[in-house]
Amino acid sequence: MNNDLLIRPATLADAPHICQLIHSHKDDLLVRPLSDVIMNIDRFYVCDDNGKVVACAAWQILPEVGDPSKASVEVQSVAVDKSYRRRHVGSRIVKEVLKRVEAFAPTQAIVLTFAPEFFASLGFREVPKTSLMHKIYMGCINCTKYDNPFTCPEKAMALNLGTPRTPPPQ
Ligand SMILES: CC(C)(COP(=O)(O)OP(=O)(O)OC[C@H]1O[C@@H](n2cnc3c(N)ncnc32)[C@H](O)[C@@H]1OP(=O)(O)O)[C@@H](O)C(=O)NCCC(=O)NCCS
Repeated sequence: MNNDLLIRPATLADAPHICQLIHSHKDDLLVRPLSDVIMNIDRFYVCDDNGKVVACAAWQILPEVGDPSKASVEVQSVAVDKSYRRRHVGSRIVKEVLKRVEAFAPTQAIVLTFAPEFFASLGFREVPKTSLMHKIYMGCINCTKYDNPFTCPEKAMALNLGTPRTPPPQ
């Protein structure tokens, strides 16, 4: 029953389970060492089925070079245990991430993904990779799977989150 599944912020005790979940999807996700998951645990959500971590998702704010008011939020490390798929666990956890980051008023959420249908169901639309240069610069440049982010088969997708708030006058 989906009602038993709790989406909640991750704790340090979840870190090894998150790591295992990410590693078991290494063809679809960027593998993250345990130390990285621990250092970023405050930006992870998990789905908890009576104490078992069955899904995770994380986020990171990405600055827009030259325009500090237009930062994006990248949705990262979305993984759902195979036996829990197609029960809207993935949608619930990504929606929770989007709710969490609302407070920061980013202009858009972005993702690089092999699961475009899933993100399309959440309102994301495919965009040219050249529109996500901050991501290319900060993430793809360190990729060990593909030499060139523009020929890598992952799709770049974005969800518009509205106009950035005007900063208060100095
Ligand atoms: C992608 C993933 C997170 C989806 O999780 P999920 O809990 O099964 O997804 P949901 O049940 O919330 O799906 C919501 C909608 O997305 C779409 N969708 C999800 N998985 C899909 C698939 N494999 N093929 C086509 N559409 C899919 C459907 O429209 C679905 O709605 P429906 O089931 O009512 O038709 C999961 O398959 C996964 O962990 N994949 C491996 C890791 C990965 O690719 N992560 C994303 C990269 S960041």
